[in-house]
Amino acid sequence: MSEQPTSPDKGKSKAGPLRAFLALPNEDPRKMVGVAVALCLVCAVLVSAFAVGLRPMQEANKVLEIRRNILQVAGLMRPGVPIDELFKQVEPRTVDLRTGEFTDAVDPNTFDQRQAARDPALSDALTADQDLAGIKRRSHYAVVYLVKDDAGQVTTVILPVHGYGLWSTLYGYLAVKPDGREIVGLQFYEHAETPGLGGEVDNPNWRGQWPGKLITDENGDLKIHVVKGAAASGPEGAYQVDGLAGATLTARGVDNLVRYWVDKDGFGPFLKNLQKELAQDG
Ligand SMILES: Cc1cc2nc3c(=O)[nH]c(=O)nc-3n(C[C@H](O)[C@H](O)[C@H](O)COP(=O)(O)O)c2cc1C
Repeated sequence: MSEQPTSPDKGKSKAGPLRAFLALPNEDPRKMVGVAVALCLVCAVLVSAFAVGLRPMQEANKVLEIRRNILQVAGLMRPGVPIDELFKQVEPRTVDLRTGEFTDAVDPNTFDQRQAARDPALSDALTADQDLAGIKRRSHYAVVYLVKDDAGQVTTVILPVHGYGLWSTLYGYLAVKPDGREIVGLQFYEHAETPGLGGEVDNPNWRGQWPGKLITDENGDLKIHVVKGAAASGPEGAYQVDGLAGATLTARGVDNLVRYWVDKDGFGPFLKNLQKELAQDG
């Protein structure tokens, strides 16, 4: 058999430049830069793919975390029972803070109060006199959570609250009885106060003081306070929670935010309306 004449292009595949690149000595700057760029591209693609792929899981975890906090503040967590199962007794509702009435203007399952408070179309600026909690703007809407018993009666109302401490805005939930007067619990899920000082707002012993405290007296006057030092042992103690040793400023922030959110510029009008509504239903 006669050998076929080899053309000069024969054997040059598309992989030619790659082969030529790989054949370069490792110390060649072109090879070093090329390998670094390729590595960066591979990593970028992997990171993006993970970020996009894991987003639904992150969103689901966020929802689960919110639900866990809501159940905790209402004292409804049960070991071994899935959070979604326990949450069936909780109904999210949107409240218009300007009127204190329930509204369907926004979906309570997707409404983002924090984002709305930054949007001038969805929030109002607070005057210095109004802004006890140091939040600057108040969203028009807030999502509250109604806990209902088997008979459909509201047993607890959970209000989202936030306000400035010493270093940060504290975000949490205040749970109250439907009478709008007795506290069921206060719990923060986000803040940047100093661990061991302001961070003691998360201490279960301190949190344990809140259930049973009264927001207002019989005349409806706002009385709840986080005091400096220990709460009074007499009847006034019903309206008082101990301060935090070494963290007076965070404790004052909590005092301010609780008093803001239960009063006229917070959920005060809503709590009054709810009592009327429940009295009519009952
Ligand atoms: C590093 C550092 C971190 C602090 N963190 C807090 C805090 O998170 N909350 C707070 O109220 N005070 C904090 N303080 C203390 C305040 O500066 C202030 O002294 C304190 O609130 C006064 O509380 P007292 O009257 O109970 O001592 C911190 C102090 C230091 C030096």
